[in-house]
Amino acid sequence: MTPVPTDKKQEVPRGTLVCVGTGLNLAGQISILSKSYIENADVVFSLVPDGFAQHWLETLNEDVRSLQPYYAQGDEVKNRRDTYAQMVQAILDEVRLGKKVVCALYGHPGVFACVSHFAIAQAKDEGYSAKMEPGISAEACLWADVGIDPGNSGHQSFEASQFMFYRHTPDPTTHLLLWQIGIAGEHTLTKFSTSSDRLQILVEQLSEWYPLEHEIVIYEAPNLPVQSPRIDRLPLKNLPFAELTPISTLLIPPSRELAFNTEILAKLGISEADLG
Ligand SMILES: C[S@@+](CC[C@H](N)C(=O)[O-])C[C@H]1O[C@@H](n2cnc3c(N)ncnc32)[C@H](O)[C@@H]1O
Repeated sequence: MTPVPTDKKQEVPRGTLVCVGTGLNLAGQISILSKSYIENADVVFSLVPDGFAQHWLETLNEDVRSLQPYYAQGDEVKNRRDTYAQMVQAILDEVRLGKKVVCALYGHPGVFACVSHFAIAQAKDEGYSAKMEPGISAEACLWADVGIDPGNSGHQSFEASQFMFYRHTPDPTTHLLLWQIGIAGEHTLTKFSTSSDRLQILVEQLSEWYPLEHEIVIYEAPNLPVQSPRIDRLPLKNLPFAELTPISTLLIPPSRELAFNTEILAKLGISEADLG
């Protein structure tokens, strides 16, 4: 028998990280590839809409750890930056142990979701293999449920508070999506709701481009196959009195017709009539 050299170091497997999206609707909106990553992971961290989705993940892998407890619990006041840092830490701790780690986030894991981006960047910085698999986002569901092809006139997406705090300029000939409308104007990163006063300020801001009577849509994709989407249409001026939840997304359809770019058309030798 060949003796095993005592000074030979044990090969430690390199940890890996894959962030996958589970879609919005229970069990049916995840890609085959993402599901397979979950099934074959050593540990799965999860952030999904409800207990049903969490339970479904637990049928795919026996070590699923919800990231939900890192959010403020009960009356606790906690900055979401701390929450996200702790989530990244928990994920990286397992990668550093040499495990195949999957982070399963609802929707698309990298759309209006920072934890996956932070964790992947940190893992790569430390030399680990880390990547993201796309998922079906709230926006993808919105186009399907509301029946809009965003390619018809284009679209813009902003996080609602960022839209308020910075000088974004919406193009009223396109569709405008404001994500996290339910916490619009909330700057402390400690609360999970907004107020009518803040929404009134947003309405005034938007009135620079949209008439107060302009129809807007509050959209909520179903998280369970038995649910229907929420598609509430209301005039912009009524936004401050609307019922908003953490899963509400605001859609503002175009209020103006597309305008021809006559200079470019002239350079291309195309007339407006050519475009129908
Ligand atoms: C932190 S972001 C997460 C988005 C998620 N990564 C995705 O791909 O859809 C949370 C925001 O996404 C939107 N959102 C989440 N769930 C939704 C749902 N069921 N219907 C519509 N919008 C939703 C809302 O704007 C919500 O405030």
